[in-house]
Amino acid sequence: RKRVRIRHFARAKAAGEKITALTAYDVISAQIFDEAGIDLLLVGDSAANVVYGYDSTLPVSMDELIPLAKAVTRGATRACVVADLPFGSYERGPEQALDTAVRFMKETGVTAIKLEGGERSAAVIRRIVDAGIPVMGHIGYTPQAEHGLGGHVVQGRGDDGAAKLMADALAVQEAGAFAVVLEMVPAEIAAQVTAKLEIATIGIGAGAGCDGQILVWTDAFGMSAGRIPSFVRMFANVRETLLQAATTYRDEVRSGGFPNERESFTDAPNA
Ligand code: KIV
Ligand code: NA
Repeated sequence: RKRVRIRHFARAKAAGEKITALTAYDVISAQIFDEAGIDLLLVGDSAANVVYGYDSTLPVSMDELIPLAKAVTRGATRACVVADLPFGSYERGPEQALDTAVRFMKETGVTAIKLEGGERSAAVIRRIVDAGIPVMGHIGYTPQAEHGLGGHVVQGRGDDGAAKLMADALAVQEAGAFAVVLEMVPAEIAAQVTAKLEIATIGIGAGAGCDGQILVWTDAFGMSAGRIPSFVRMFANVRETLLQAATTYRDEVRSGGFPNERESFTDAPNA
């Protein structure tokens, strides 16, 4: 199985083949999603929430994300692995951003990095791309800017919103990004952006008109506790499966049913 390279994404878009993406944070999930043929694995800063238990993406650090990215690259043989730059690691400008991107490339084995922001991040994207590091953009609702955006709200609504989203998309493309995530934008607007861009759009809460889709796997496969966003479909209930397994294990240990003879060693030497 040939590795998915950056050029795959624009080619898939041109050929009308949908791009599949999921987040991953460890080697086991990376191996499974890679085996399933998912094209792109994102070591998202959503790890802040789903790995580290923070209540937003703002607190997570490079030192916390880098080990996860290393694990995911060890698990993926085909998928293109992309890591998020965490909040605070690129906002000071192109030089800080390049230092951060270089650190991810040197230490983790990822193929590309992702960072948030359209026009506001164009210079940063350009600097990193010029250094030979592929960049994926992320516009629309950008979780690291949660407070600036006034909460978890749909972006790109209305004429002004649509115009801003289009300008952000074009800025990201112009800056040299190979793809862009569109998060929580009206389906119609996302489809217009997708039609206008040459680079691939990867939607999350952005309708079926994008060139590909991404979801946070712990939401999509029913691992997360509590409510999941309305744009997520739950494709499995892994949490329930694990809960059942742990409960059965507990009962079997308590009752003396585990381990049985086959699950124990005898004193006889191996044949
Ligand atoms: O951090 C993340 O998981 C993301 C995706 C949902 C796009 O940025
Ligand atoms: Na993210």
